[in-house]
Amino acid sequence: MGREMWGIRMAVVLLSVGQALICTFQVQNNITSMPDLNISQVKGPWYFISLAMNEKLSDPEGEDVSMSLIVLYPFANGSVNLQTAITSSNGVCMEVNITYTKGNKSGQYKSNDGNPCYFQVIDTDYENYGIIYIGNSENKDDFQVKLYGRTKVVTDEVFKKFQKVTKSLGILWENVIMLHRLAACG
Ligand SMILES: *[C@@H]1O[C@H](CO)[C@@H](O)[C@H](O)[C@H]1NC(C)=O
Ligand SMILES: *[C@@H]1O[C@H](CO)[C@@H](O)[C@H](O)[C@H]1NC(C)=O
Ligand SMILES: *[C@@H]1O[C@H](CO)[C@@H](O)[C@H](O)[C@H]1NC(C)=O
Ligand SMILES: *[C@@H]1O[C@H](CO)[C@@H](O)[C@H](O)[C@H]1NC(C)=O
Ligand SMILES: *[C@@H]1O[C@H](CO)[C@@H](O)[C@H](O)[C@H]1NC(C)=O
Repeated sequence: MGREMWGIRMAVVLLSVGQALICTFQVQNNITSMPDLNISQVKGPWYFISLAMNEKLSDPEGEDVSMSLIVLYPFANGSVNLQTAITSSNGVCMEVNITYTKGNKSGQYKSNDGNPCYFQVIDTDYENYGIIYIGNSENKDDFQVKLYGRTKVVTDEVFKKFQKVTKSLGILWENVIMLHRLAACG
């Protein structure tokens, strides 16, 4: 896998996560949310460990999604900043900050950068793992579920929780990707 290819892949994945989605705010899928999410305890770095998608990857062989690090920073007004590093198609590392504004449901945050997508915290224990739903409110079939860890590995128990969530959303096992290699960037 060439470096450039990888960069494009990352960009495409990010695009599908953040850029290309049009979101209204209806959570139409059967997702449970944390009733009393305390966002200030979610603060800090998280490793992106596993990605589950409801649609089959168009090119599974070509997919080379890497583990990456995100840093979540809550503001006093309830919004959160999400900092991540991506590799551009020409191999340059870029730091990207996106601010999300609190939505109507506990744990729901809507992108501030004009992109119509939102995320919803399904479950977290703050200290080990977080299970996040990324949705497009205009198209309930366009969603992903991500598993984040405070460290690069999570326990089997945590992974089972993640599997339970993806299964309840009808995601096939073959559409769950484990990310092993940490991105060169971020
Ligand atoms: C939140 O709820 C208010 C009042 O019900 C509604 O006007 C607003 O559009 C909702 N916001 C989103 C983003 O769904
Ligand atoms: C949320 O967590 C912070 C940091 O641990 C704590 O200071 C605050 O009291 C908590 N807020 C609520 C509403 O529990
Ligand atoms: C909350 O504060 C952040 C940082 O100052 C700002 O970027 C964002 O627009 C604010 N959000 C709202 C809804 O006021
Ligand atoms: C992103 O946000 C962090 C934390 O607020 C800040 O230190 C950094 O300079 C920002 N980066 C960019 C590219 O805006
Ligand atoms: C929604 O998900 C929950 C928890 O995974 C599950 O127990 C319940 O049966 C699901 N409901 C529907 C209507 O699919």
